[in-house]
Amino acid sequence: MNRKRFIKTGVLAATLAGTGTLSAAHDKKKKQKVNPNSKPGFPLVISTWNHGIPANEAAFQALQQGGSAVDAAEKGVWQIEADAKNTSVGLGGFPDREGIVTLDACIMDHLGRAGSVCFVQGIAHPITVARAVMEKTPHVMLVGKGAELYAEEIGLKQEKNKLSPEAEKAWKEWLKEKQYKPIINIENHDTIGLLVMDKNGIMAGSCTTSGLAFKMHGRVGDSPIIGAGLFIDQEIGAATCTGLGETVLRTLASHVAVECMRNGYTPQDACEEAIRRIIKKHENYKDFQVGILAVNTKGEHGAYGIHKGFNYALHQHGKNTLFDSSYYNG
Ligand code: GLY
Repeated sequence: MNRKRFIKTGVLAATLAGTGTLSAAHDKKKKQKVNPNSKPGFPLVISTWNHGIPANEAAFQALQQGGSAVDAAEKGVWQIEADAKNTSVGLGGFPDREGIVTLDACIMDHLGRAGSVCFVQGIAHPITVARAVMEKTPHVMLVGKGAELYAEEIGLKQEKNKLSPEAEKAWKEWLKEKQYKPIINIENHDTIGLLVMDKNGIMAGSCTTSGLAFKMHGRVGDSPIIGAGLFIDQEIGAATCTGLGETVLRTLASHVAVECMRNGYTPQDACEEAIRRIIKKHENYKDFQVGILAVNTKGEHGAYGIHKGFNYALHQHGKNTLFDSSYYNG
């Protein structure tokens, strides 16, 4: 094969390989899927699960009080971290196998700056620590003891590991069988992932969790990992995930959704593609849930889950509403 032909064939192969990785949803001739609840416009706040309603409320209030998109992203999920009755976010969360609550969180802004903390114990507001990592340090991620020491440095109190009565009861129950099995849609909550657009369309996002209930000590999921639990690109859009973190980590689903939007997908198609990739890589997808939310620069959104039961809250055009997401379920 001469050089010219080789280059031509190579380009063709690369083009085909490229389209192969982006599925039929990208076919511009096809009508692109639009989420029935999606209307353009901002400001908006969108977040995962039932607890998204109070989170959106707090985030929106921050915006109305003149706060930035990052203020809103922090305040929204802070509210949920503070809820001692929430068993999947904050210190009220279900513990790991050893009976210890360990927390993960991250935050990202419109400039692509990011901060994250993982495996934090005894700190009520990991999201505040993540924000300080982003804004006050040269780093993106602090873990474990280092993150806890830094939390104290910025004035946060270290609390004793004390399980909430509900978490303690659930842990003791779990100890009887010690089954390592994620449970789908526990009471319609899990990680909170929240995306904000302020009145000028400036984006920010946050994600915080106590992680998988009864995980191994030291386990970290997708929530604090930029590109997995959360990703923002001000030029394109933003996405956040909830559900079984290992599967989101293997696919970097939030990043995938933003890159799909970069390639012309609607937010709904982008969410569906990200979920399809998880399903493709996990034969056991029937045993776990993942939900994803995405917004584009117009303020349009998408939402998709593997199974029925994933819901999300949208605060936009003067209303804060809980919606059921569409889902795959195969
Ligand atoms: N998505 C939360 C976790 O798996 O830790």
